[in-house]
Amino acid sequence: MSAKEAPTLPLLTPYKMGNFNLSHRIVMAPMGRLRSYNNVPQPHAILYHSQRTSEGGLLIAESTGISDTAQGYPNIPGIWTKEQVEAWKPIVDAVHAKGGIFFCQIVHVGRVSNPDFQPNRQAPISCTDKPLSPQSHGFDSVTTKFRAPRRLTTDEIPHIVNDFRIAARNAIEAGFDGVEIHGAHGYLIEQFLKDQVNDRIYKYGGSLKNRCRFALEVIEAVSEEIGAERVGIRLSPFADYNECGDSDPEALGIYMAKSLNKFGIAYCHVVEPRMKNPEEKSECSQSVVPMRKAFNGTFIVAGGYDREDGNKAIVENRADLVAYGRWFLANPDLPKRFQLNAPLNKYDRKLFYTTNSIYGYTDYPFLETIA
Ligand SMILES: Cc1cc2nc3c(=O)[nH]c(=O)nc-3n(C[C@H](O)[C@H](O)[C@H](O)COP(=O)(O)O)c2cc1C
Repeated sequence: MSAKEAPTLPLLTPYKMGNFNLSHRIVMAPMGRLRSYNNVPQPHAILYHSQRTSEGGLLIAESTGISDTAQGYPNIPGIWTKEQVEAWKPIVDAVHAKGGIFFCQIVHVGRVSNPDFQPNRQAPISCTDKPLSPQSHGFDSVTTKFRAPRRLTTDEIPHIVNDFRIAARNAIEAGFDGVEIHGAHGYLIEQFLKDQVNDRIYKYGGSLKNRCRFALEVIEAVSEEIGAERVGIRLSPFADYNECGDSDPEALGIYMAKSLNKFGIAYCHVVEPRMKNPEEKSECSQSVVPMRKAFNGTFIVAGGYDREDGNKAIVENRADLVAYGRWFLANPDLPKRFQLNAPLNKYDRKLFYTTNSIYGYTDYPFLETIA
């Protein structure tokens, strides 16, 4: 049977996410590539994103810092200065020129940082003053020693919420279709959410409701600023990456999923429980289905999916969309390869996080060039 006669794959069926008409359900997951020198997006990102754009496909840009205290890695892009906003514009334009839909993932890393990344070499900020154990990020080319964070005072928290608001406004100014709030992987929002890190008492700590307050204030502020239909959030209640675990991840996930309903945001994007860290899959009996059921909007899953189990997630209605990280990194034409059931390029882990503007970045071949 030729590709044309083949039945349509569930992953390749159209989907309407609010005002966005997606032509298929294969999303590019956010992936930091550490090639935005001095936190400014670079021209090589135009080609990288354009290569991975398909008409009606959704792309989520890599985690992008909201302020000068938000960084913990070298060369991640930011969106708090005019120069950064201007630098994003041609990248966004290139995605739009090919009919893609482009969200920007906005992040504050909180305590996953050290004074080298902070203004005036100050301590990183967090909900806590508990340090991460000194360790490397596990990136081949990046080793960071963590330093004890400074605990934010209650009065300071609205300023950080406001930084998210301004970053979202800037993302729209840069042309993005929306933002994804990074509430996963042990960064600032998750530091508040999870009881193994959040040791506050009073307004932003203690009860589940209080731990979720910061995240929900960010969502409210960002939704007010740019419209809820342009807002998504990424959550990883089951992961313990960056030493950020919770004693009852299922209750946390369901509480957040239900709380999101009142904002009417574009989507909730959940990292699978099997992804205890962002890169390695392991067997696990927990499931995101209760969160899927609790949330009324578009539900995106990510983490360790291939063509077969992505299709299965759609058929079994466990998700509306499936985000692919490493396979998209290495296969710019991933939707086409899935359509044709073509072999996939292998990804080269050593080149995930180098500063090189071509190798391991824009040099993964398209199907036509291999044939
Ligand atoms: C190179 C690389 C960079 C990543 N950077 C981010 C990031 O900036 N934000 C984020 O939420 N997840 C990040 N992740 C996690 C991915 O979005 C995704 O959840 C993970 O790769 C698992 O999906 P996969 O099995 O399809 O690769 C990164 C993963 C990789 C491999």
